[in-house]
Amino acid sequence: MGWVSGELYDASWVEQYFDEFGAQEWDRLVKNPSREVQLAVHNNAIRRFVSCGDEVLEIGAGAGRFTQTLSQIGAKTTVTDISLVQLELNIANAKLYDFDRSVSEWKKLDVCDMSCFAGESFDAVLCIGGPLSYVLDRRDCAIAECIRVTRPGGAIIFGVMSLWGTIHQYLDGVLGYTPEDNAKIIETGDLTQANSKFANHFCPMFRSDELREFLQSHGLSVEFMSASSGLSAVHGEALNEVRADEEKWNELLRMEILACQQPGYLDAGTHLIAAGRKANRETEPKVDRQTLR
Ligand SMILES: C[S@@+](CC[C@H](N)C(=O)[O-])C[C@H]1O[C@@H](n2cnc3c(N)ncnc32)[C@H](O)[C@@H]1O
Repeated sequence: MGWVSGELYDASWVEQYFDEFGAQEWDRLVKNPSREVQLAVHNNAIRRFVSCGDEVLEIGAGAGRFTQTLSQIGAKTTVTDISLVQLELNIANAKLYDFDRSVSEWKKLDVCDMSCFAGESFDAVLCIGGPLSYVLDRRDCAIAECIRVTRPGGAIIFGVMSLWGTIHQYLDGVLGYTPEDNAKIIETGDLTQANSKFANHFCPMFRSDELREFLQSHGLSVEFMSASSGLSAVHGEALNEVRADEEKWNELLRMEILACQQPGYLDAGTHLIAAGRKANRETEPKVDRQTLR
């Protein structure tokens, strides 16, 4: 992408954006059936990689939707976010919905600097809802920090914004951009102030193959990839009827979870989810005594 590391990322813009977004963050994934599908697909990914008793670092935890999931699994979570307002909402929701007992601590931090944690401190790291997107050209630093604090063999789950999935979901709006701006966004994946006059939310968006290669280039073995929705992504209000019928709703969620992992659907949702595992320490190389003679 040709970025010079650290030129684009503006931590204070991200912090202010989510401070101002405030309590809307708690409702974001339940405000309509389409978002509830995304919540269910993310929860499925978390449940595959986090087990009861795991010590988990949650990065960019926001108001706590997934802190609650981690609590239901029985994990012990260190909750972090760059936005103090989001952390305060997380604390309030944890008390209100009774998941505060499964939180070890709440800490304000930027994923690019987690020096407050020693290496190999956590069984799993959860970084979904975009922190790896928001850090723009500091993504190498962010992922290196996530890997550093994870124990060998531990899982790291990322959720980032999806380029083609966002276009899929918001096609009407995208067609309102000039072809030149769209060409720049598609070429680079970046939604920036310079190329998107109508957007109020700026971040790079990933293609699924690019995300996989990025994680692998940092030594993670990618064990799981999923869109955040695929089958029902653009069905909008038509999903209200399905939501009202429990049997159909459960069937939709079951099929979504399967379909979202199909290569043909990976780029269909607004977000991409990927889980990688940190390599186990290599065992001491075996010395062949014959060759030493
Ligand atoms: C869209 S919300 C997602 C919240 C939650 N993880 C979810 O998926 O529902 C993104 C969160 O990431 C936080 N965030 C963004 N950039 C971050 C960074 N560089 N370091 C830590 N947190 C960050 C924001 O403050 C915000 O609370």
